[in-house]
Amino acid sequence: MPAAIGLRWGIKQSFLDYLSGLPDGQAALGDNVTAVGDNELLFDPAEATASLDGIVKFTGEVRFGGHRGLLFVRVAEPWLHIDGGCGRLTVLDPTLTDETSRIPLVTFLVDPGEAISGSFAGTHVRLTEEGVEIFNNVYSVGEPFEPFTVTA
Ligand code: HEM
Repeated sequence: MPAAIGLRWGIKQSFLDYLSGLPDGQAALGDNVTAVGDNELLFDPAEATASLDGIVKFTGEVRFGGHRGLLFVRVAEPWLHIDGGCGRLTVLDPTLTDETSRIPLVTFLVDPGEAISGSFAGTHVRLTEEGVEIFNNVYSVGEPFEPFTVTA
């Protein structure tokens, strides 16, 4: 069976473990996102093609909650901005409601793979300065996040 098309990402395993240990921890999936495999999410493509250069857009969102609403992390509409073998993953700014401002959440290196054309992986995924605030300043800049795969 071919791999499902989209951006497949576990975000950060230790964060998901932390949430699942909270009495009211939850992950609410919006449209265009599916839970797959072992604690991973599949964000649907927003466009037909995935390229190793330029912007690759995905849609869908997940909202993590806990601590009676004090904890709220939204990861929405992830886009990959790829340039010369590395890139940034941006999401809609979770602190704004205008649905156009984006912030870089993590940086990554592109592993083009070999087997399936149009598919690649993001490795060395690391938290950005803006991402630090999204996670309540618990992690530092450069904190490792999960690698991801893109299947076209
Ligand atoms: C009532 C307020 C809060 C309390 C009492 C609290 C408590 C804790 C505790 C005890 C840990 C350590 C867990 C462990 O190592 O097993 C932790 C980790 C963490 N908390 Fe909170 N927290 C609160 C609010 C928040 C908020 C608002 C966020 C926003 C995103 C947040 C994000 C995190 C993250 C990202 C970690 C690290 C998880 C990991 O191990 O990767 N927390 N918190």
